[in-house]
Amino acid sequence: MAVTVNERIDLSSDLVPSCPPLRLGEAAPNFTARSTRGVVSLSDFRGRWLVLFSHPADFTPVCTSEFVAIARAHERFSALGCELMALSVDSLFSHLAWIRAIRDRFDVVVDFPIIEDPTLEIAQAYGMVGPDAVDASAVRTTYVLDPEGVLRASTCYPASVGRSVEEMLRLVAALQRVHGGEALAPEGWVPGADLLAVPSHDLSDVLAAPAGTDWFYTAISDRKE
Ligand code: BEZ
Repeated sequence: MAVTVNERIDLSSDLVPSCPPLRLGEAAPNFTARSTRGVVSLSDFRGRWLVLFSHPADFTPVCTSEFVAIARAHERFSALGCELMALSVDSLFSHLAWIRAIRDRFDVVVDFPIIEDPTLEIAQAYGMVGPDAVDASAVRTTYVLDPEGVLRASTCYPASVGRSVEEMLRLVAALQRVHGGEALAPEGWVPGADLLAVPSHDLSDVLAAPAGTDWFYTAISDRKE
């Protein structure tokens, strides 16, 4: 996207500094920021699932491995109706140079937005880092937001361990599948595998159920007939 030298971009925000970590069920704070795909706001993604993830630093080995894998899986996220957006403290020019280096070395283009958060304003408003943080090198946080912008899952990994793209995809699919509240996703659930019924809270249902575990543990098929 071409920009002129004197172009003014309104990046003012209502972000509250030094918040506690965003909790499940809370609406993610809106922000507007520069990114590798132009100026983006969180609210642009309303109506779509979104994986918003931070990384400690551009041009680092584990982060590079993650971005290569996530970029290669981009179509699989799209097939789930899920957008991707990354975030780090590094400048937009650093992000652009890193994308170029990744393209040259790994033959894959990172074409989802990577936003710059040079003042840690977003990281602090989301509680990814504390109010006194001077860098974000310990931050490898992932937020899965539903189409209303509400946090449905989050993970926080150290700089030294990369995330699993397969698990990110599985998590999005599982969250989407149980979003209506009519079923539960058991350990390791993948699309098509059995789900679990939501147990009744009614004592008469509990006492009327067959002996054994059936009242709280009932597998239900996810297969399309
Ligand atoms: C990495 O992604 O490899 C990394 C990032 C920050 C500190 C150490 C390693």
